[in-house]
Amino acid sequence: MATHLLAIDQGTTSSRAILFDAAGTPLGSAQEEFSQYFPCDGWVEHDAEEIWQSTLSVCRQLLAEQNMHASDIRAIGITNQRETTLLWDADSGELLHRAIVWQDRRTADYCAELKQAGHEPMVSNKTGLLIDPYFSATKLRWLLEHIPEARAKAEQGKLRFGTVDSFLLWRLTGGKVHRTDATNASRTMLFNIHTQSWDQDLLELFDIPASLLPEVMDTAADFGHTEAGLFGAEIPITAMAGDQQAALIGQACFQPGMVKSTYGTGCFMIMNTGDQPIRSNNRLLTTVGYRLQGQVTFALEGSIFVAGAAIQWLRDGLKLIQHAGETEAMAEQTGHDCGVYLVPAFTGLGAPYWDPKARGAIFGLTRDTGIAEIVTAGLQSVCFQSRDLLDAMQADGAISTSALRVDGGMVVNNWVVQSLANILGVPVERPQVTETTALGVAYLAGLHSGLFASLEEIAAHWHCQRNFKPDMPEDQRNQLYQGWQDAVRRVREG
Ligand code: G3P
Repeated sequence: MATHLLAIDQGTTSSRAILFDAAGTPLGSAQEEFSQYFPCDGWVEHDAEEIWQSTLSVCRQLLAEQNMHASDIRAIGITNQRETTLLWDADSGELLHRAIVWQDRRTADYCAELKQAGHEPMVSNKTGLLIDPYFSATKLRWLLEHIPEARAKAEQGKLRFGTVDSFLLWRLTGGKVHRTDATNASRTMLFNIHTQSWDQDLLELFDIPASLLPEVMDTAADFGHTEAGLFGAEIPITAMAGDQQAALIGQACFQPGMVKSTYGTGCFMIMNTGDQPIRSNNRLLTTVGYRLQGQVTFALEGSIFVAGAAIQWLRDGLKLIQHAGETEAMAEQTGHDCGVYLVPAFTGLGAPYWDPKARGAIFGLTRDTGIAEIVTAGLQSVCFQSRDLLDAMQADGAISTSALRVDGGMVVNNWVVQSLANILGVPVERPQVTETTALGVAYLAGLHSGLFASLEEIAAHWHCQRNFKPDMPEDQRNQLYQGWQDAVRRVREG
């Protein structure tokens, strides 16, 4: 009986395949980067054929490297960059346009009009989201408006819309299955998170024909089988989840109040809020954490656009460092109290500010400020932004959290994780397996295919590699954070 699980992690900059055994141990992975297109200021596109080819190629490479056959794979789980919007022909499968990526801001003016016209409360009540170009609805509308004949074809039922999960499923099943899962659907701004269905009022508001939309499934479900020709035999696909929700599962945050934060290019903090959606008064998003056997677990999410990207900027933009790995020693030498604040609002500020006009700044420079202080301030900005999010969650009445579970590229930096614990004032736990996104969707695929009996069994596989306890006096923590709040206020004042 096959006991291996194949996770496809289709992210913003690369496609990956990761193989897990039945204990959730990663056995190997393959990865391919693909092109980023920036056709105009604020526009970001991907060639979805490249997404497909790179996905197929990493799966095949990995199976070959691990000497595995399709029959050794119990099930596939797909996790993906969320919100990115695709449109293809239902008969030929041909894409009508490059994918419009979640980061793309081309619909900012239209979003501003919608807000001005007073639509935000209705949209927010139904979807848990704020009106923003980030989500799929306005991107899909843009495609229908700008591709010749797209709207007419859509109205005749000849086109299909999907986020990346849906598109990969369509291709993997040889064009037979048009489905998505509730986590991905909840990021489109067309899905009512309370009724768990596509919402007629939203479809009317954004002028989207219902025939375009995929069927929404549980996060772990029978999504379909890969076409036999792709990997030599059919493989069942039994889980799909947006990547940040998959990380919530990979971090085994199954109880209300449990929080995970993933530090990649940006940072996404998600708190499990149980079976009740918490309506945020602090501009966080209410979203579907996961849906299993029809039961929805809701989550609060705060998204920061620049986390690791601030360190990339210090390296590639300012050339203050050569490798991100150098920053830990620099910050250790500088210490927490260097008085310099770097606000990395390069593309505005995300949650909880959602201020597209704010721009980055460095404050507190003195004659003896050097590279190390600026680098340290860059690292600290990630911790301060995390505190913004956690405070907002707490202010929204979420259960107070006893620990934060972290993952993503930045958490190899011990100084950052310790500083995070200090600034948040809660213990921060780094897990043994930091491939949490892929692991999460592999767990779900295993759950649905009978490899795991329950979420409790999955949670038992989660192990802490290191627990970072806060070791900073409270008044120092508050004073540092106040300095950050002042700095943010100043970038927002222009
Ligand atoms: O919401 C966007 C998020 O899903 C992107 O994640 O890891 O591909 O940058 P990532």
